[in-house]
Amino acid sequence: MPATSVIGAQWGDEGKGKVIDLIADRADVVVRFQGGANAGHTVIVEGVKFVFHLLPSGVLHPGKLNVLGNGVVVDPAVLLDEVGQFESRGISLEGRLVVSGAAHCVLPYHRVLDQLREGEKAGVAIGTTGRGIGPAYADKANRCGIRAWDLVDEGRLRARLAANVDDKNKVITRLYGAPPLDFDEIFDLARDQGRRLRSLVKDTGAVLRRALREGQHVFFEGAQGVMLDIDHGTYPFVTSSNADSLGIAAGAGISPREIGHQIGVTKAYCTRVGAGPFPSELHDERGEQLREGGSEFGATTGRPRRCGWFDVPAARYAAALCAFDGLAITKLDVLSGFDEVGLVTAYEIDGRTVDEYPVDTPLIERARPIVKMFPGWSEDVRSVRSFADLPPAARSFVEEICARVGVPWEILSVGPGRESTMFREPS
Ligand code: GDP
Ligand code: IMO
Ligand code: MG
Repeated sequence: MPATSVIGAQWGDEGKGKVIDLIADRADVVVRFQGGANAGHTVIVEGVKFVFHLLPSGVLHPGKLNVLGNGVVVDPAVLLDEVGQFESRGISLEGRLVVSGAAHCVLPYHRVLDQLREGEKAGVAIGTTGRGIGPAYADKANRCGIRAWDLVDEGRLRARLAANVDDKNKVITRLYGAPPLDFDEIFDLARDQGRRLRSLVKDTGAVLRRALREGQHVFFEGAQGVMLDIDHGTYPFVTSSNADSLGIAAGAGISPREIGHQIGVTKAYCTRVGAGPFPSELHDERGEQLREGGSEFGATTGRPRRCGWFDVPAARYAAALCAFDGLAITKLDVLSGFDEVGLVTAYEIDGRTVDEYPVDTPLIERARPIVKMFPGWSEDVRSVRSFADLPPAARSFVEEICARVGVPWEILSVGPGRESTMFREPS
């Protein structure tokens, strides 16, 4: 059976967690392949809220194998805490969670460096989640990182950690004038975490290739989204990994041929949290209405999300880059009550109309949105379960998005719960 991937098509928080949870009953394996505990994926089942930072959002379905691939940066403290939280809620991960030995660890100095760097007035503040993601990927690229295999081997851990703490302390004290970190404290903590995680650490690439060979259905769960991708997003206002389907093969250890069916997740509008260009942002009461109506506050940091109309050129760019087969459009319910709803159809940049998303960040920073307004609808659509039963204006708006992006919808979401969902009937 082919694989399926679920990828954020905007700036993150599109509702990937909900979508993965919805379709995970069809999966045998659910895989995170990039990012780390910067992610916050929310799943709501019968009114009960679960937020996943590191664990794949398939965890609520019993009997599925959950994988943290080699491309993930794993904070062992967060992982153990999250596993503990699920176990205390009666959801055991026993025998159904594996972590790649090649995944890099996020250690206390990564968080400290992330926060110090963000605080530096001289630098560019990205508005990171402060979870140590950038510094951990920097160590990976710099070939001094500590992998899960090192974490679970005390001798290797001691040697590599000593070199790292020594090195990081120079930066922390000399560059930032902050107090040094204590090696023994970090080592004792990491050794204990390594002991607790040892049985989970595997060659997950081999596990996944075998699963695919055997015809199991493997789901890849993206974190963040295309516009936050380190290569293809609004650099430098991005995360530090390939947060789109281009990251799957490398971050999971499988061939690009195996990526399978790709679902791009978008809201029916746009949000962004943190700094960086966001051409469709609404600075007026309509932005406020989206934020309040959509409860647009970060699942990881609690920060208010910036809100704006659906950005067609950006979504078309994301769709072209990933070659999405279908869209999952979420939060259509949040648009109820607007007299008119907008689509950014093009930008004006330096006096020219541009309908293709420009990848050079200063151009996007200068882009002024060209907005086309469509009739809104007043009906509450949260209890609608079939496309035909949506108000005509809501149907037209969805059709307009799909036609302009050039990708059909597969899933329509009209509320946070599992039940508030429509699947396109096979034609
Ligand atoms: P993710 O990071 O892509 O998994 O998304 P988040 O969980 O960070 O943010 C999406 C938020 O929207 C969560 O609070 C979800 O419970 C909620 N949500 C998802 N789909 C819908 C929907 O269709 N309508 C409404 N009102 N909320 C939704
Ligand atoms: P999910 O998976 C939305 C943003 C941060 C910041 C930038 C870099 O829930 O969609 P980082 O901590 O990664 O170095 O921050 O990326 N960011 C997210 N925004 N959703 C996320 O994840 C995000 N993960 C990181 O706000 O602008
Ligand atoms: Mg999120």
